[in-house]
Amino acid sequence: MARLLLINGPNLSLLGQRQPELYGHTTLKEIETRLTQLAEERHHELLCYQNDAEHELLKRIHAAREESIELILFNPAAFTHTSIVLRDALLAVGIPFIEIHLSNVAAREDFRQQSFFSDIAIGTVAGFGITSYELALIAAERHLEAA
Ligand code: DQA
Repeated sequence: MARLLLINGPNLSLLGQRQPELYGHTTLKEIETRLTQLAEERHHELLCYQNDAEHELLKRIHAAREESIELILFNPAAFTHTSIVLRDALLAVGIPFIEIHLSNVAAREDFRQQSFFSDIAIGTVAGFGITSYELALIAAERHLEAA
């Protein structure tokens, strides 16, 4: 049994309505419900959090240290490409994390080619829509089992 935290960054609260051709028709609530169910089936606990503000995400990452979170599943959204603050927060708390993207960022604009997280993540899952989240949860479980 592991305690996991799912964090979603800015604009992901609009999933379902936001550029569905890129991000699909599934809402964030549906993603959170699906992942929570998948975690429960596997006897893990999953906490879910979304915020648009960098400092709130920073505070959530800091708080995870006090909550025995073993691994973070993180879609930093646009902060992927900009946030040294959130990179430093993850390094500071030392909680392993998996970077998630719905879209295949490698096939998108030049400014999305840089991630401030990929080199410090356990790994990155991108391009599979909601399945990216499901694959990341399974990868998290395998990583913790092997640790
Ligand atoms: C995203 C990709 C980011 O480049 C973008 O800013 C997002 C969503 C994804 O899940 O595909 O907001 O993280």
